[in-house]
Amino acid sequence: MSSNELQATIQQIAVPGKGILAADESMKTIAKRFAPINVECSEENRRIYREMLFTTNELSSFISGVILFEETLGQQSSSGDTLGKVLEKQGIVPGIKVDKGLIDLDNTDDEKVTQGLDGLADRLASYKEMGARFAKWRAVFNISDIKPTKRAINTNAHNLARYAAICQSQGIVPIVEPEVLMDGSHTIERCAKVSESVFHLVFHHLHLQGVILEHMILKPSMIISGADCPQQASSEQVARETVKILKRTVPAAVPTINFLSGGQSAEFATENLNLMNKLHDDLPWFLSFSYGRALQAPCLDAWHGKDENIAAAQEQLHKRSKLNAAATLGEYSEGME
Ligand code: 13P
Repeated sequence: MSSNELQATIQQIAVPGKGILAADESMKTIAKRFAPINVECSEENRRIYREMLFTTNELSSFISGVILFEETLGQQSSSGDTLGKVLEKQGIVPGIKVDKGLIDLDNTDDEKVTQGLDGLADRLASYKEMGARFAKWRAVFNISDIKPTKRAINTNAHNLARYAAICQSQGIVPIVEPEVLMDGSHTIERCAKVSESVFHLVFHHLHLQGVILEHMILKPSMIISGADCPQQASSEQVARETVKILKRTVPAAVPTINFLSGGQSAEFATENLNLMNKLHDDLPWFLSFSYGRALQAPCLDAWHGKDENIAAAQEQLHKRSKLNAAATLGEYSEGME
């Protein structure tokens, strides 16, 4: 393993005023995103869509890394370069989602575990040859009165840590993504309690596996009310609770924390990130974004699969990228919408 290589990748991604675009939707997920705008989920449409995202004007001013799905990394753009290369030429680091999705976790009531460790080192070596320099693995945790169980937390935390160790041994920076899901009617206090246990055990397992914290990226969910909770917490509560729980659980050695958006509206995700940065000037890590839906939803809406809408769709991605980039500096305001 070359620690210089990992450090160089971190330095290129963890830049104040920039974040990550998550464009790594699996076949099933991208089909779900295309369905409401009546776009067929063909290989060609996926290529056209991702090329549209990656050729957005000034993208590299706001986005330092893009997470890709395996298919996208090697897909040819209309310029003849692969889509990975299209990013690289702009100084944006290409990354790759490497987990193989969720399966049922035995001896639990419908809790999930993420699979994909078998053969991972070999897959990483070939993704690296194709230009990928960082990777992503997502684990999910459902909240109920009794979930997540210790069994689900420990199993997923162990797998996240094994994945991260394997990535680092291959010279690939791991994004460690523990997502506490927003689904349900739980309060923000319950989310805080669950997230504290999850993040704590994730770092315990990262330690057990010898993962170098300086050479990883944490991609957590925010501390937020359940989607069906009647009492929705404000942005200021989300910002304060999230930073409080991260301070309790995430070592200062971690260089950057890039949140997922998890189903929040585009505006709420930007406002929450902005307030975290605006209300705190003593944080040991960068707080930035690695949004999927909160960056892409307005763009998909504007596109509708039509060539004549490409400029308008790119304008939407440009706008959300720019506003979230401002939020990483605490410089966003509602007026900029
Ligand atoms: P969302 O921002 O849509 O949650 O997606 C981020 C992601 O990469 C989920 O794995």
